[in-house]
Amino acid sequence: MHLQLENIKKSFKDKSVLKGINITMENGVYGLLGPNGAGKTTMIRILADILQPTSGRILINGQDKNGCGDGYRAKIGYLPQDMSFYPDFSGRDYLMFVAALKGMNELKAKRQIETLAQNVGLSDDLHRLASTYSGGMQRRLGIAQALLDDPEILILDEPTSGLDPYERIKFRNIISAYSSDRLVLLSTHIVSDVDSVAKQVMMMEYGVIKRVGPSEEFISQIGECVWTFRLPVSRLVEFQNSAVISSVMPHGDMMEVRVIDEKKPNSDAVLAKPGLEDAYLYIFHYLPRMARPRIGA
Ligand SMILES: Nc1ncnc2c1ncn2[C@@H]1O[C@H](COP(=O)(O)OP(=O)(O)OP(=O)(O)O)[C@@H](O)[C@H]1O
Ligand SMILES: [Mg+2]
Repeated sequence: MHLQLENIKKSFKDKSVLKGINITMENGVYGLLGPNGAGKTTMIRILADILQPTSGRILINGQDKNGCGDGYRAKIGYLPQDMSFYPDFSGRDYLMFVAALKGMNELKAKRQIETLAQNVGLSDDLHRLASTYSGGMQRRLGIAQALLDDPEILILDEPTSGLDPYERIKFRNIISAYSSDRLVLLSTHIVSDVDSVAKQVMMMEYGVIKRVGPSEEFISQIGECVWTFRLPVSRLVEFQNSAVISSVMPHGDMMEVRVIDEKKPNSDAVLAKPGLEDAYLYIFHYLPRMARPRIGA
């Protein structure tokens, strides 16, 4: 599988939301990270064929997707960021409904639904009305419907929002296994979702993919910029206005802070091993802060 976005642009009225996306994806997991409003959902909806780009092309195995008719959609499993359910559909009804839309025969659909329900931990709840599921259960039902009929391209918009830690780990394992011979694109705000599974991470902001690479590359690029030290609780709020804090852990009556900084922030600070979340904060928060002219400078 070879999926290529060629200079994809999207505007809503005069608002330019995607400003020329060029990216080529093959089998494996691709993680899409970026702040709120970056354009992730817009890009995903265009890929899922829900939205038409203002200009640009999507090529699948070298062929323009618009020339593939329904063939393109048939290859795609899609989990939207927001889902709603018919009030009188049980979880099983909903999955059978999606299976019918995908053109699956009844026997195959029933078999797959049982397996998928087991994989996403919903076997005991399929008979219940989907509209009465908890947020995390609805998300898992959404993941199951996206996986129906083994799509070659799986596009998931914030699949793990609302999932508890155990279900997130299960999800990551499902995706890892699935992506060995398929393409998975997922957008998330939970950096650890993509850290271990994504072969490429895309960092998006203001409708542009700013950087692409394996997570190790991002981590090695930030080098010696992650520090930890302890701070009295009373100074924490003031300190966070002038620093990019990655995490805070209580330590007796002090707080152990983890900070992104190219310079040693404090005489007691010691270097820490960076992770992808630190790299995200460095790119989206530390560097822009440094680039901003200081008042009075
Ligand atoms: N149908 C629309 N009409 C007008 N503006 C839109 C429309 N859809 C999205 N936008 C705008 O496009 C920008 C990007 O939105 P998008 O939903 O793609 O961001 P996102 O990266 O998915 O954000 P989030 O992390 O909050 O989900 C936002 O400024 C949003 O207001
Ligand atoms: Mg979004």
